[in-house]
Amino acid sequence: MRKNARPMYWATAALILVFSFGCDLLSPPKEPATGFTEFGNIGELYESYFPIGAAVSGGEYGTNSFTYYPANVVSVFSSFVAENCMKPALIQPEEGTFEWDAADVIVDAAEARGAVVRGHTLVWHSQSPAWMTAGTKEEARARMRAHILAVAGRYTGRISAWDVVNEAVTDYGYRTDSPWYTVYGDASYIQDAFDYAYEADPDAKLFYNDYGVVNASKRNTIKNMITELRLKEDHHLAGVGIQAHWNLNWPSLNEIQATIDTFSDMGLEVQFTELDIDVYGGDGSIAEKVLTDDLEEALADRYGEIFALFRQNAEKITNVTFWGIADDHTWLNRFWDSTYHNDEFRQNYPMPFNTNHEAKRLYMRITDF
Ligand code: XIL
Repeated sequence: MRKNARPMYWATAALILVFSFGCDLLSPPKEPATGFTEFGNIGELYESYFPIGAAVSGGEYGTNSFTYYPANVVSVFSSFVAENCMKPALIQPEEGTFEWDAADVIVDAAEARGAVVRGHTLVWHSQSPAWMTAGTKEEARARMRAHILAVAGRYTGRISAWDVVNEAVTDYGYRTDSPWYTVYGDASYIQDAFDYAYEADPDAKLFYNDYGVVNASKRNTIKNMITELRLKEDHHLAGVGIQAHWNLNWPSLNEIQATIDTFSDMGLEVQFTELDIDVYGGDGSIAEKVLTDDLEEALADRYGEIFALFRQNAEKITNVTFWGIADDHTWLNRFWDSTYHNDEFRQNYPMPFNTNHEAKRLYMRITDF
């Protein structure tokens, strides 16, 4: 009896074992992959290449990145930029009323750490108060000058580079629906912005900043704008900021290289100003992903190849800035497709630190060279 029962017993046990293992393999891990609590200082490691920056908050919307993140996390960055609080709508919400507090926090904190500061941004079609571009061209022009002299003037000598004008073109020409273009009736507002920024802070490097610059059509449009408006020769343009809101597959390393060369060949500096890798590729229909081992690896590979390319081009690149610090605070958690969905949350994983503020594998990869 017993002799016959034994094989049955083992067969059942084996089945249960196979079944439960099978389930484990099929269901994703419940927790994100464990992060690294000990990590090198990326700012120091890249000191001979270029500053490594992060976009931060200075208390606007209730968050101050310098007190919110652990000290050892914040201190790995050698450059900071305001994610929002220096934008026209936040820093001068009403004519003559300036909200300096958050911007001051960032500039002071950066200086206390010996980090450089990028200024973002003086003239943009978005997050710009309606009053500034209302009325006639001359009224708008006077307000632009007053705004730039006040904001860039307040931090004279303390900002390494200003994004003077942000996103002034589409893939094929000037962004004609920008309120600045509309009130001026042409693109000469861009020249004015650079002239006023130079007047306010002649020591800051003046940048034109945009997204999608790696696409050949937009790259050419920007090149044509710079040439047509004589921004470099007559208006103090020092470089082009490439936002770098990218994903796991786009752009190719060839496109990035071609973009660096295009502007470097024009005698301009190149900065990667808003780097983040979107694991959904901008597709709002994809369900929330878990940070699996495979995804960690894919992110590490992607950031690894990008940073290797950046290091090879160190002579042409003067700043590389992440658009945030950790995955718990990134605009990509709330920005799907090309429209805002501020009421919806979908966890994204673009940042060098995870939601527990531990270094991700990608961080280890880009500091291992
Ligand atoms: C984004 C911020 O990250 C968000 O918090 C805000 O709601 C909208 O703006 N290009 C830019 C940045 O130049 O200023 C934008 O920042 C992202 C796209």
